[in-house]
Formats: sequence, structure tokens, C-alpha cells
Amino acid sequence: MRAALLIFFVSALSVQATKYLDRNLAYSSPFVGYSEFSHDTREIQARHIQHAKRQMIDSTGFDDEHYPTFYGGDFSNAPFIWSGGINFTHSVASGDPFDDSILLWTRAVPLGSGPDQSVPVCVSFKIFDNAKLSGKPLDSGEAFSSYDVDFTLKVEAQNLKPDTKYWYQFADCTNPATVSPIGATRTLSSPDIAPNFKLVLYALFSLIIVVSNSIIGWFNAYGVAAHNTSADVFVHLGDYIYESLGSGAKIGRKVLGRELATVFDYRQRLNQYRTDPGLIAAHEAGPWITVWYVNQP
Ligand SMILES: *[C@@H]1O[C@H](CO)[C@@H](O)[C@H](O)[C@H]1NC(C)=O
Repeated sequence: MRAALLIFFVSALSVQATKYLDRNLAYSSPFVGYSEFSHDTREIQARHIQHAKRQMIDSTGFDDEHYPTFYGGDFSNAPFIWSGGINFTHSVASGDPFDDSILLWTRAVPLGSGPDQSVPVCVSFKIFDNAKLSGKPLDSGEAFSSYDVDFTLKVEAQNLKPDTKYWYQFADCTNPATVSPIGATRTLSSPDIAPNFKLVLYALFSLIIVVSNSIIGWFNAYGVAAHNTSADVFVHLGDYIYESLGSGAKIGRKVLGRELATVFDYRQRLNQYRTDPGLIAAHEAGPWITVWYVNQP
């Protein structure tokens, strides 16, 4: 197991430099192809490589009598990839379904004090056509995440059939027994195939139906849609989070942080909202299509 993992680490860090970072679309969020919004994965990879190289320098060439304990040091188990355990703190989500692909999302937070900034977290995913996750996955793979994207992961599961239900799960590459909750999702029908008149039921959220303000109330509407309807797709028309601090409500929910200004503020607020059980259930139950409404003057 260790030898196999080591080969994976070394190949992950050298062969195709940024393959495992690029598989995580969170680095290019919110849109692929807009470099002004995205992280330069080559830069992040260079940081990881620098760390790995430091760990792999052969110590036998050194003759430093001040540090005799370093001689013959075994660096083969150096943490090129975080192996201290992860927590899927915000369960799973899926979205933007096409007829042959779908985006899968999770957050893989390192346990304890976490890794050095130069050590990536590695997460694997698998997608199946049955809720028991049995048989061969339709798509699978590994991707890196890091503190740069708040340990989130967004991968595109591909080669799927149109108008079909799927189930997916993430795992820790270095300890496959650590798995995320299982999410359900589906593809949309293909424009190239004659419709089979299967009804797709959309659960529609908007400002009118749900004011998604976690200070004011619980997100019960999300939970009802997830548990009490057979919604296929969740369409969210806006105001998923609020930037203001608000005055608080009588449900014992205190909003964390301040009026949002920095990326840290946004992450903290989003992470707080995403602990709501109704919201988690709705994200686990099916793919979301979100529409960002821009208020024109
Ligand atoms: C994992 O995250 C959940 C949700 O934030 C938290 O309740 C739980 O204590 C965490 N578990 C560990 C082992 O850190």
C-alpha cells in the first residue's frame, strides 16, 4: 500500500505537472477560461514541487557535524500529499447538469492543524448508476485541493448517459476508508435524442420562496423540497447568501464574522450557511442550477 501510494505521489507531482490540480475546477471558478478569476495552478504546483524536492534531497552528501541525527534520514514517507485525515465538513453537492456530464462538489478539510501550505490534499471521486454504488463506476478520478480554494473540490463527472439518475461519493486518496456522504444527482435529456417525455420536476427557489438568510430563519423550504418532493433538479434564482450582519433572530443563530469584504469573510459566511441541515439535504438530493441575478440600476 505504502509503495503504491509513494508511486502515486511521485507521479502526481512530476509526470503531468498540474493534472491533479486542474481536475479540480475550483481553481478556475467561477468560470473556466477567465484567468483574472482563477488560480494559476502552475504556480501552486511549483510550490508543491519545491516542498517535495526539499524532502527528497539525499542527506548522505552532507557533512554537517552539528546535525548528526539527520544522517541517513529516511524521507521516503515525507508528506508530499496530506495523509493526516480529512473531514467532509459540508457533505456533497452537484450542479449544472448537462446531458453527458455533471459537476460534483465537496469540501475536504484536513484534520487537526492541517498541512503546510505546500502540501495538497488529495480526494478521489466515483459516480455510479445505482444508490448502492455497486459495479464499475461510470467515471472516477483523483484531484488535489488546498488552502487556496478553502479545501473545496469541484470535478466534472463525464461520459454519462442523458436523462439518468446517478449516485456519487468522494474519498480520501491516502485513506480510502474515509468517505463522504453519498449524493444523488441526474443528467438532463439530450437535445439530440428524441424526447421520451419523461417529466423532470424542478424545485424552484427564489427570493420569494426562500429568503436564504441564515440569521433570520432555518432553511426549512430546502429540507421540505429534499425530503417531501421528488424534485429532480433544484433551481435557485438568487440570494443564496447575504453579506450584511443583520440584527439576528430568536432562533439562536448568531452570524459569524462581519459585513462581508474579503474572501475570508465570504468563505466563513458560506461555510456557516452550509451547515444548515435542510440546505445540506437539498444539495445531497439532486443537482442545482443557480442563477446569479445582477441588479441593474
Ligand atoms: C467534521 O465536521 C463536522 C461538521 O463541521 C463536525 O461536526 C465534526 O466534529 C468534524 N469531525 C472531526 C473529526 O473533526
